[in-house]
Amino acid sequence: MPVVSLKETLDRAFAERYGVPAINIVDDLSIQAVLAAAVEERSPVIIQTSVKTVKMYGRDQLYGIFTALARDVDVPVSLHLDHCPDRSVISSCLGGGWNSVLFDAHELDVAENLRQTTEVVQEARRYGANVEGEIEGIQGVEDDIGSDEASVQQSLEVAVDFIKRTGVDCFAPAIGNAHGQYTSAPVLDHQRVTDLVEATGVPMALHGGTGLSKEQFQDLIARGCAKVNISTALKEAYMKSALEFLRGAEEKGKWDPPSLFRHQTAAVTQMAREHMRLFGSSGRA
Ligand code: 13P
Repeated sequence: MPVVSLKETLDRAFAERYGVPAINIVDDLSIQAVLAAAVEERSPVIIQTSVKTVKMYGRDQLYGIFTALARDVDVPVSLHLDHCPDRSVISSCLGGGWNSVLFDAHELDVAENLRQTTEVVQEARRYGANVEGEIEGIQGVEDDIGSDEASVQQSLEVAVDFIKRTGVDCFAPAIGNAHGQYTSAPVLDHQRVTDLVEATGVPMALHGGTGLSKEQFQDLIARGCAKVNISTALKEAYMKSALEFLRGAEEKGKWDPPSLFRHQTAAVTQMAREHMRLFGSSGRA
């Protein structure tokens, strides 16, 4: 099974300046659809799970589904836990096979966040796993975590100090990005990505990918956002394709679940493929 560390995947993407899609899956169908896209595009991919999805399935069941589906995939795949403020869930996922976690302690003050993130990095290293760090909340609620309040940006010095002292493998800066669909075109602080990358040499994670323009993606990836998070686009592809199919099923009076699943799988795979092409990860595996 080509499950590779997040660091290995991101280091190459960072050096060659393409973005690896980190896609929040919601179930087995969406894992399978995203992996199919990665194989068809010959792209590395990060399968990302929210805490909500981990709790919905149970850690071992979700990991079992992931390993069963990733077993025969011949492109690099990482399994990453998205925004997790809860140390016990972090420890549980690291112990249960996840090879990367985002310890989201932005609600703590930076000194305490730094102290605890350093511990999480040490814990992750014992499993050969990687850590994404965060000191500023990304605006918008992602699977019950976060808030709609605008993010409070820390100074460049504080962010650089956090990255260097914790030893995180990638960092999620708040640059005017937000989870969910944007209600107006976001104005992004792209210079901050350049400044953080120049000062640390660490790849950045771009959150709030859904709804950014082609130009914004390409610019931020060129500046060092090697991990690009997509969640809302998957939810929309998954549910809108179901809605469309079910409307047709009702009209015809024909109810065939496998046909519904095939329709949803095709929609999610297509969505993932489009992002892989956009991020330049196609053809890299
Ligand atoms: P979107 O829901 O805007 O795609 O953001 C995803 C994300 O950043 C997950 O952490």
